[in-house]
Amino acid sequence: MLQDSESFTIEAVDSETEGGSLIPTPPKAAWLSPGNTLFNFFDGERHETVRAALNPHFSRRQVKKMEGAIKSKVNQVLDQVSSMPEFDIIYDLASPIVAGVVNDHMGFGLEDPAPIFRAMSDQSHDKKAEVDDQAIVTFKDGWIYIGEVVRARRAEPRDDVISALTLANDGQFTDLEIQGMCINIIFGAADTAAALTAHSLTFLADRPDLRAQLRDDPRQIPNFVREGLRYFNVAMGVARSAKRDVELGGAKIHKGDRVFALLPSANLDPARYDHPDEFDISRGALPHLGFGSGVHTCLGAGLAQAIVVAVIQALLERVETYSIDTAKVVGNPDKSFINLFHRAPMRIESFREPVSH
Ligand code: HEM
Repeated sequence: MLQDSESFTIEAVDSETEGGSLIPTPPKAAWLSPGNTLFNFFDGERHETVRAALNPHFSRRQVKKMEGAIKSKVNQVLDQVSSMPEFDIIYDLASPIVAGVVNDHMGFGLEDPAPIFRAMSDQSHDKKAEVDDQAIVTFKDGWIYIGEVVRARRAEPRDDVISALTLANDGQFTDLEIQGMCINIIFGAADTAAALTAHSLTFLADRPDLRAQLRDDPRQIPNFVREGLRYFNVAMGVARSAKRDVELGGAKIHKGDRVFALLPSANLDPARYDHPDEFDISRGALPHLGFGSGVHTCLGAGLAQAIVVAVIQALLERVETYSIDTAKVVGNPDKSFINLFHRAPMRIESFREPVSH
């Protein structure tokens, strides 16, 4: 379904069908996409043009270039949490790292990007019917702020992605379109990579054997993260609308039907993976659907993996033992779209000898 763009679309197909990647479409979708400029809300040539402009800035080669910056951001945040008796994996550790890296790369110029990333993504995940004024104020503020940055970068380009976007596509992207790309990237990045970090650290807390294995051979950490994407299933599913009558896996789907792809059912498919319920880092490069597939496949897949690898590597280098109070771990109650952590308190029990970084 995700790979068949002839039969399925992320857009509405007629006046009866809603679009978007969720069922139901969030009630505040209009707020989320003023002027419908979020590119995970549209398909076709317009979407291709946006991805063609953005992909090089998130490619494997580009992420490789960013490794030094990622490592120093990770160590800077680890320095901060190291002095805290207890800290939260999401709020204090992962979110400042992810937001910090994306903020610097895109050129948002935010001094403390984590709160605004969180507030804006809360807005996108909030499925309550009633309007939360504060969240909307924050979203509007964020939206306006990003618009100002886009105009400033167009006037005076710098070495960042926003400046590059003002020149891309023969300079034809409007400010509003670039604003939409930025907001989409904030939504995509804000919680997901932090959740993968929290899943990984929670899992490793109970696995001293695996911690030792990864510490002895850090080249295995990318395999750990890859297996985590298959096994933890941060992204639970994405929706599409059928553009025509189509049969899929023996099911008849009619034009206009909404279909939800439950990604874990693919990632834990026994026909695809031996002992799928076991965490096994020796699976190597077996494909998974943790980042989706097809034209809307995750833009930040490489960056997210590089960040989580860097966090695990630095933590294993610097910390001997840590504990997570599992009784206090809080996940999002509705996991139908995304499998997040709201709270995951962690304590560093003992440090290793300082390692130069
Ligand atoms: C572990 C972390 C992450 C996971 C599990 C994840 C998962 C996904 C999935 C499943 C999709 C496909 C949605 C669909 O088909 O409707 C997606 C799209 C997207 N992701 Fe990620 N993501 C992660 C991290 C990131 C990061 C760090 C960024 C930004 C730098 C990002 C930006 C995006 C964007 C912009 C899209 C929309 C792409 C499009 O519609 O063309 N994601 N992500």
